[in-house]
Amino acid sequence: MKILAIHGSPRTIRSSTRKLATFVLEGAAEAGAETEMIDLCDFRVTPCTACEGCSFNGICVYEDDVPVIVARMKEADGIVFASPVYIDNISGQMKLFFDRLADAIHYQVLAGKYGCSVATTHTSGGDEVVAYLNHVQNYLGVISVGGLSVAAGGNAGTVDAAEASARALGRNLAGAITNGFSDPKQEEEIAGNRDFFRALVEENRDFRPEDYQRWVQMGWIG
Ligand SMILES: Cc1cc2nc3c(=O)[nH]c(=O)nc-3n(C[C@H](O)[C@H](O)[C@H](O)COP(=O)(O)O)c2cc1C
Repeated sequence: MKILAIHGSPRTIRSSTRKLATFVLEGAAEAGAETEMIDLCDFRVTPCTACEGCSFNGICVYEDDVPVIVARMKEADGIVFASPVYIDNISGQMKLFFDRLADAIHYQVLAGKYGCSVATTHTSGGDEVVAYLNHVQNYLGVISVGGLSVAAGGNAGTVDAAEASARALGRNLAGAITNGFSDPKQEEEIAGNRDFFRALVEENRDFRPEDYQRWVQMGWIG
């Protein structure tokens, strides 16, 4: 069982968010998972320019590190999103990465995985950012087992105080992968998104026959 955290603070190893995500991964490791952290800042992520080139074959016109990250997401059974709160939203680094996932969302290449999300903030927006991160997981077809935000208020010790909760979240994620986890509300949302994306997959059938066939095999078309 592999669990991958994608971390979007530019403060890399000094980051409170990274520390919180590390606790989640440690909890998952206790439950038997092999874990990995991707610091987005160490990777080249070119902003999406809406050229729609990827809609022909899933390949972006820019050569950077996003395909490597997506490949690691595909290999993982569980995905943790981790972002600091910037102006009551996710960090710019995280958002640039998410924008590059539009094709993975449309074609549901990560569907069936489980995930969770964490955020840290000084004061505001933590719960909203966790909800957004989990919403993006649902867009990807990933079912979230929950999330955790910490309002550190400038006190680094606050993140340490959340260690037990973060480890429990990681154990829950590993447990969902091992034993399954159902959430009818998220499943309904994911199915609704698929209803919307189906038209695109059908329209591009001649360009992307393998994706079309995967949708047929999954029972999402037909
Ligand atoms: C550009 C920027 C914007 C921020 N916006 C907010 C904000 O809207 N609300 C808030 O309470 N804290 C805000 N903060 C504080 C961070 O959310 C907080 O320090 C967070 O724990 C940083 O996480 P990190 O150490 O992982 O980078 C902001 C910090 C930066 C650098």
